Amino acid sequence: MLIIANWKAYVESFEKAKSLVAASKKLSRATEHDLVLATPAPFLAALALKNKSRVAFAAQDVSSTTGGAQTGETTAQMAVAAGASYAIVGHSERRAAGDTNTVVTEKLLHALARNLIPILCIGERERDREGRYLAFVREEITAALMPLAAKERSKIIIAYEPLWAIGKAADQSIDPNDLVEMTLYIRKVLAELLPGRSSARALVLYGGAVEPTNVRALAQTARVDGFLVGHSSVDEQSFAALVKQLS
Ligand code: PGA
Repeated sequence: MLIIANWKAYVESFEKAKSLVAASKKLSRATEHDLVLATPAPFLAALALKNKSRVAFAAQDVSSTTGGAQTGETTAQMAVAAGASYAIVGHSERRAAGDTNTVVTEKLLHALARNLIPILCIGERERDREGRYLAFVREEITAALMPLAAKERSKIIIAYEPLWAIGKAADQSIDPNDLVEMTLYIRKVLAELLPGRSSARALVLYGGAVEPTNVRALAQTARVDGFLVGHSSVDEQSFAALVKQLS
């Protein structure tokens, strides 16, 4: 499985960042799962450039621009130069800060152009009784992928992250049976958008209140290929416990 640690802005001290990386490297030697650390951008190069371990690194976002007079932007090219091999794109916290579907597509294109593997986050705000969340998720995937060439679409990892679960405790996370429904649905949408049989190989991750106590049930019930983990990934003990639950 692919386990992405999304540190968000939780980790503000470089000392803490270094110690989390050291713990993840140790963990990676004891697990068959692939660990990816999405660190804050200013720490990325120092943590990732000399990395020779199985742990990989991700940018938490990339710019929708490609350089030049763009104060404050971190471009896909910079992320690669700093040692990232993945990039989270379209996280709901970035969408809340203004990323539209069009911006998300631009970011995907820039990431792909630099050979960063994009992790495209999608997810509904509310799980309404009428089932409108299904149409919402379909629209988010379609809007992001439609403008891309067929070959590019098949390189994208999907992270299904319902907004109502993000940042919550495990008991408020998605029910494993509901996640089964969602992953099947997402795979159906991908089958319509991806060329040939490539959707069968597409990776679908889950994120939103994944903790050591619920990760195993989610992994066993639903056909997910991994997890995007926020708050449980910034504590050494809980991240180690979470990964161990999967072995
Ligand atoms: P959480 O965050 O694990 O804290 O719910 C997940 C995410 O937003 O990627």
